[in-house]
Amino acid sequence: MILVTGGAGFIGSNFVLDWLGQSDEGVVNVDNLTYAGNLHNLASLRDDPRHVFVKADICDSAAMAALLARHRPRAIVHFAAESHVDRSIHGPAAFIQTNVNGTFSLLEAARGYWSALEAADKSVFRFLHVSTDEVYGSLTPDEPPFAETRQYAPNSPYSASKAAADHLVRAYHHTYGLPTLTTNCSNNYGPYHFPEKLIPLIIVNALAGKPLPIYGDGQQVRDWLYVGDHCAAIRCVLADGAVGEVFNIGGWNEKANLDVVHTLCDILDDLRPKPDCSSYRAQITRVQDRPGHDRRYAIDARKIEHALGWTPAETFDSGIRKTVQWYLANQPWVADVQSGDYLKWVEQNYSDRGATALAGAVLTSSNQASESA
Ligand code: NAD
Ligand code: TYD
Repeated sequence: MILVTGGAGFIGSNFVLDWLGQSDEGVVNVDNLTYAGNLHNLASLRDDPRHVFVKADICDSAAMAALLARHRPRAIVHFAAESHVDRSIHGPAAFIQTNVNGTFSLLEAARGYWSALEAADKSVFRFLHVSTDEVYGSLTPDEPPFAETRQYAPNSPYSASKAAADHLVRAYHHTYGLPTLTTNCSNNYGPYHFPEKLIPLIIVNALAGKPLPIYGDGQQVRDWLYVGDHCAAIRCVLADGAVGEVFNIGGWNEKANLDVVHTLCDILDDLRPKPDCSSYRAQITRVQDRPGHDRRYAIDARKIEHALGWTPAETFDSGIRKTVQWYLANQPWVADVQSGDYLKWVEQNYSDRGATALAGAVLTSSNQASESA
């Protein structure tokens, strides 16, 4: 079996569902269920003996060692992290604790377990660390996308904590020979995405008739990848990636935030028109920018394509439509995650940006016409 950390979160739960949809190899899923962990994502596995859920903290090295000794996985796929840039600005400590100390604890437990394996098991064991393109910092409009050789330049507490974890993983391979793999992926979107991140936030706010907050000028660029494509890429890297290597994963889908939001509004106008036939675009509202906001991310995904034959199956158009359809069909999931804690976060993040900005500054139709042209 394999051991997955953070498998109750957005990408982790998609990965576990995807894995068990393709293979009978079991999964031990270790997650301490922070606000971002949600066992409802895994409801379809409730009676599936191939899935063992364990509520535990990756920072607890002894607990990790005991789990490894008990379940004897042939691989660890490490998703568990604090993952939201805005939260890292409000409270970086949790990011250092889980992303840095937690990865360190897990690496220590993995090293102890792996060192004691028989030669045959030792040679097939893998530690796959799931990381982000944000470790590379921000691109200017004319720079080429991030290749694996790009110098690290993290700008937020989140990306700095992920960069630290990447360096620890690299060091454990270099120093101890731990058979590691690292993936640095661009922004994901798709089912079970917690509505604090841009795409699900816009969908749920639009449907609730609330403002659609755009940070700053909305011209920040992200490279979007459908989560199922990320899961497929991780499976490829785990199966065939050369030990010690890094693979950048991206969708070749660079989009400005405002364009993404326009696309979401247009799909909703089509699939769930408002009774008065006005467009959801009218809810778009500019708010104060994120401090230190990275302007552009883009991934050069040629290495994983050439080495492992992976390319994304979804285009942005197909993936984003599927995603909107999923949110429309799963309103109870949305209602469930919008608990008191979620509302507290929304209040903290958006009231800091100025209530007046939220209430006013709706884009004028002439703005919208020029921006979408
Ligand atoms: P998420 O926030 O949705 O989920 C994180 C999961 O980790 C949650 O289930 C949470 O309960 C769990 N967790 C947090 N701290 C833990 C701890 N101390 N011990 C055990 N479990 C803990 O995150 P996500 O968006 O699914 O991201 C998963 C991974 O992929 C992260 O490492 C992130 O850095 C990376 N990544 C994310 C994106 C993206 O666009 N979301 C892109 C590239 C890479
Ligand atoms: P996010 O989904 O938080 O991912 P990341 O910061 O890791 O890229 O944000 C994606 C982009 O959308 C980012 O440039 C910030 C922007 N954004 C908004 O404009 N408004 C919002 O309310 C949020 C949450 C994000």
